Amino acid sequence: MIIGIDKLDFYIPNFYVSMTDLAKARQIEPEKFTIGIGQTKMAVNPVSQDIISMGVNAAQNMLTEEDKKDIEMVVVATESGVDHSKAASIEIHSMLNIQPFARCIEMKEACYSATAAIQLAKDFLSNRPDKKVLVIASDIARYGLNSGGEPTQGAGAVAMLISHNPRILTLNDDSVAHTTNVYDFWRPTSEKYPVVDGALSKDAYIDSFNTLWNEYTKRTKYGLNDFESFCFHVPFTKMGQKAFKTILSENVEDSTKNRLMDAYQDSVNYNRDVGNIYTGSLYLSLISLLENHEFQDDQKICLFSYGSGAVGEIFSGSLVPGYEKMLDKERHLDMLKSRKELTVEEYEHFFNRFDNGEFDLEQELTQDPYTKVYLDSIEGHIRN
Ligand code: HMG
Repeated sequence: MIIGIDKLDFYIPNFYVSMTDLAKARQIEPEKFTIGIGQTKMAVNPVSQDIISMGVNAAQNMLTEEDKKDIEMVVVATESGVDHSKAASIEIHSMLNIQPFARCIEMKEACYSATAAIQLAKDFLSNRPDKKVLVIASDIARYGLNSGGEPTQGAGAVAMLISHNPRILTLNDDSVAHTTNVYDFWRPTSEKYPVVDGALSKDAYIDSFNTLWNEYTKRTKYGLNDFESFCFHVPFTKMGQKAFKTILSENVEDSTKNRLMDAYQDSVNYNRDVGNIYTGSLYLSLISLLENHEFQDDQKICLFSYGSGAVGEIFSGSLVPGYEKMLDKERHLDMLKSRKELTVEEYEHFFNRFDNGEFDLEQELTQDPYTKVYLDSIEGHIRN
């Protein structure tokens, strides 16, 4: 049975702040953010873009009327939920006009849950040959102004259509997951921002990757040369690189190291200009890789998914010949390039208005061809 990613797209809100400006405003050497952390720009969402509107904006372009009839389940993976009870996917299902006899759920495990959603979709489709599942990873990474995590914020959504006979990436039956109880990053329900032990979070990420890579290679007998490239969860571009380097040891040939490191750079092109989008980060990285790296038919990509707390998973996908036709590089580059730059003061204003729920659409809804859906207001706890 061949199941995998048939379509994928993303949406990043229309505003960003430069990491150099942010560093200067915080009296930090800009190189710490641009080189040490490896980020150039940070996406900033206006009050009118939350996980639901971003999810719709990510998915709406890629879905045909036929897809909407075939989608039997909508899963939203997020850690920025807007309701403790109602799944964000219900509103997304409604706004996208997906046929009514569909399941809608929301999944949570920090940045990992989009991978759980994809694996669930794969199992769900195994006895439904004509059906499809829409997976949306949508998040707003917020640590607070002047906080240690501030340079690793971001916002955005990735949408993926999972189906039989996919046209982009076949999901192979080789996934290995690993869970360990660690307090590296978490957000108790009473808290607006996450509690983070930054140094521990970096170590926990690397430990998860190393443990999984050992187990994965033992079970599958695969090695580095079985893959054209690797894709990582990217809280910041230096993080994946740091973890990757731990397995590119002295025993690995220089040509392999260089090939894989070059591909890694292609995989973080978009993330470098966006920041952390939590559940969507790995899949934004996958889009970046597919749109910026030259592959040959059938090559394999190894993916490492990680969510603090912590759950990690390594799995692989095989490229489907002709996958390029399913991508939209020009539109994606234009979406990222045409964003408006905010001063640090404006970014702080946006940040505080989001916390206070102050809608000011005139300022936010400037000419933006990529933002089709936005949150207008919330009245009596009902979203409009
Ligand atoms: P920090 O304490 O501000 O920075 O925290 P640092 O001291 O760790 O420095 C960062 C890097 O910049 C270091 O490089 C410095 O050497 C370097 P490293 O030693 O790590 O290779 N540096 C410089 N480089 C060049 N020129 C300079 C300079 N100065 C310093 N002048 C941290 C940084 C990322 C920890 C913080 O921002 C944070 O807590 N962020 C949030 C947590 C996070 O992103 N953790 C990542 C792993 S956990 C994860 O991925 C899960 C997550 O996505 C959540 C989820 O699952 O839901 C976060």
